[in-house]
Amino acid sequence: MAITTTLVDHPVVADALTRIRDRDTPNALFRQNLERIGTLLLAEATRTLPTVDGTVETPLTTAPARRIASQPVVVPILRAGLGFVGAAQELLPNADIGFIGMARNEDTHQPEPYVNKLPESLAGRPVIVVDPMLATGGSLIAAIELLRERGAPEPITVVCALAAPEGIRALEAAGLSIDLFTAAIDDHLDEHAFIVPGLGDAGDRQFGTPAAPIPSS
Ligand code: PRP
Repeated sequence: MAITTTLVDHPVVADALTRIRDRDTPNALFRQNLERIGTLLLAEATRTLPTVDGTVETPLTTAPARRIASQPVVVPILRAGLGFVGAAQELLPNADIGFIGMARNEDTHQPEPYVNKLPESLAGRPVIVVDPMLATGGSLIAAIELLRERGAPEPITVVCALAAPEGIRALEAAGLSIDLFTAAIDDHLDEHAFIVPGLGDAGDRQFGTPAAPIPSS
């Protein structure tokens, strides 16, 4: 059980990250640059996907070939994780997409699950969780629990744009096995558990609407 963290150091990622941090970046440009970050981080995160050797018929002859052995399941954590789905489907057009809805209670900072739409079994399927923000780590830890219940093989790959040191420590303390890919590890969390310097609320900045609390039944 261990957390490995890969900081993706790439000029295009750095430039896109600067744009999404900028408070004056409008929503459309925010989404575009977030997706750009997703593409490059997912390229790194899928570097070790197992492949099988075979052959392919070119117009001229038979050539040796490699194919992805088992199509991954990509799991965005709603809402903000939706910003990486386009990039994931572009790179992995045959991947299944599972959905986990996790809202962070802004008073307690605890995650509250509201969607769990995953394949029946994740056994033998590489699983890639995407969520632009890792703050306290509560949402991710709760999401990983749901993935483990379905038999997801570990380590589970996680792609986020920004991580807080507190969140990474929480993953370690939870004893999870995760390969984390991020564009940056920021300084700290503020008293509202927002990442500082951060980029604000990745859900609101993509979709414009502040997420209303879940109505109690
Ligand atoms: C944000 C973010 C992560 C979570 C991170 O989502 O997108 O999912 O908070 O915080 P944590 O590490 O402290 O759990 P939020 O709950 O604001 O929902 P949203 O994506 O719908 O905006």
